[in-house]
Amino acid sequence: MRLSDLTSMASPKSVLGETSAPVESPRDLLTVRDFQKAARKVLTKPAYDYYRSGADAECTLRQNEKAFRKYLLLPRVLVDVADRDLSVELLGHRFSSPIGVAPTAYHKLATADGECATARACAETGTLLTVSTLGTTTLEEVAAASNSPKWFQLYVHKDRDFTRSLVMRASAAGYHALVLTADTPLLGRRLRDVHNRFGLPEGLTMANLPAEPNAGDKPASALQSYVAARHDASLTWADLAWLRSISPLPIVIKGILRSDDAERAVLEGCAAVWISNHGARQLDGVPATIDVLAEVAEAVDGRVPVILDGGIRWGTDVLKALALGAKAVMVGRPLLWGLAAGGQKGATALLQNLQNELSTAMALAGCRTIADIPRNLVRARR
Ligand code: FNR
Ligand code: LAC
Repeated sequence: MRLSDLTSMASPKSVLGETSAPVESPRDLLTVRDFQKAARKVLTKPAYDYYRSGADAECTLRQNEKAFRKYLLLPRVLVDVADRDLSVELLGHRFSSPIGVAPTAYHKLATADGECATARACAETGTLLTVSTLGTTTLEEVAAASNSPKWFQLYVHKDRDFTRSLVMRASAAGYHALVLTADTPLLGRRLRDVHNRFGLPEGLTMANLPAEPNAGDKPASALQSYVAARHDASLTWADLAWLRSISPLPIVIKGILRSDDAERAVLEGCAAVWISNHGARQLDGVPATIDVLAEVAEAVDGRVPVILDGGIRWGTDVLKALALGAKAVMVGRPLLWGLAAGGQKGATALLQNLQNELSTAMALAGCRTIADIPRNLVRARR
C-alpha cells in the first residue's frame, strides 16, 4: 500500500487535519511504524500528542513495546502450514483473526467519518471492534455503520441513571458485550495534553454524553476535567454486581494487571478478563502487559478468555501473546495511525497488514491454526 493511494482516496480530512501540511513523498506503508509516521504528518500537534502520550515519565509507555523483545520464538519445522486459519471465536462470535480493536476516544480527530470509518474497516477485515464511551459519534451511528459484531466500552459515571441509559442504549443498538474499563477512576496525567491545553476542537463533541460541565476558562486538559467531574471514582466490586444486575449483555473487565483481581473478576461472573494498562496512560510505573500475561492466564486457568492490549506492533507480538495465554489481543494506537493516514482505507490497510504479519509469523513458527500455538513456542531471553 502506498501512502499516495491512501491520501488520494481518504475521506475528507478531519477538522484538525485540514489545517495540517499535505503529506509529501509517498512511500510504502508496511509496518505500524510507517503508519505512525504518516499519521504524524497529517495530524495537528495536539491531536497527535493526545493519541501518542503516556502518563507522566512514560516509563510504562516505553516498556509496553520493548518488553516483547525479551520473549523469543522457538519455531517448529516440517509442519504443514500451507493452509492457515487465523480465525478465533470470542463470546460466541467468530472473527477472522485474534487481533481486535481496543476502545479509543475521539476518532474524528483522525478522519471526518471517525468511528464509522473504523467500524467499516473492522467489518472489511472481520475484526472485533470495541467502541468507546468517549466517541465523537453516537454509539447508535457506529452500530449502524456495519453489520459486524461489536462490543461497547463503558465508563461508569457518578450519575447512575445516565450509566444505566448507556448500558440500555448499547444493548438496544445490538452490541454483544459490555467492556467495563476499571482502571480510570480519574485520568492519568499526560504532560503533553496539559501543555497543549488539549480539548476537542470546535465542531466535535463527545457524542454519547451530555454537554461537558464548564471546566473553567482554560482547563489543563478538558478531558481530565471531564473525567474528574463525571466518572465515579468510588466504583468497587460491589458496583460490578449492580452492573451485572442491570446489563442484558455479558461483561468483560478491562484494566486487569494482577492475578488476584483476575481471579475476583472470574468469581464475579465476568465473561472475559482484559489485561491492560490503558496503553500506559494511567499509572506510570506499572509493568508492561506482556510481562503479567503468563501469571494472569495461570490464575484464570481457561475459565474465561484472557485478552491483552498494550504495545502490540508486530505480528510476532501477537504470536507471543497468544503463546503466553491470550485468546486475543487488541490494538489501540495502531488503529488510530491507520485511520489518520488514510481514513477507512488506512484503517483497513493497517489491520490487513497486521493480519498478514501474523499469518507469516505463524507459518514460519510451524502453526497452522491459532489452536496450534503452543506455550513452549516462547521462551524468555537468557
Ligand atoms: C485509549 N484507551 C481507552 N480505553 C478505554 O477503555 N476507553 C477509552 O475511551 C480509551 N481511549 C483511549 C484513547 C487513546 C488515544 C489511547 C491511545 C488509548 C486505552 C486503549 O483501549 C488500550 O488499552 C490501549 O490503547 C492499548 O495500547 P496500545 O495498543 O495503544 O499500545
Ligand atoms: C484516554 C481516555 C479517554 O485514555 O480513556 O484518553
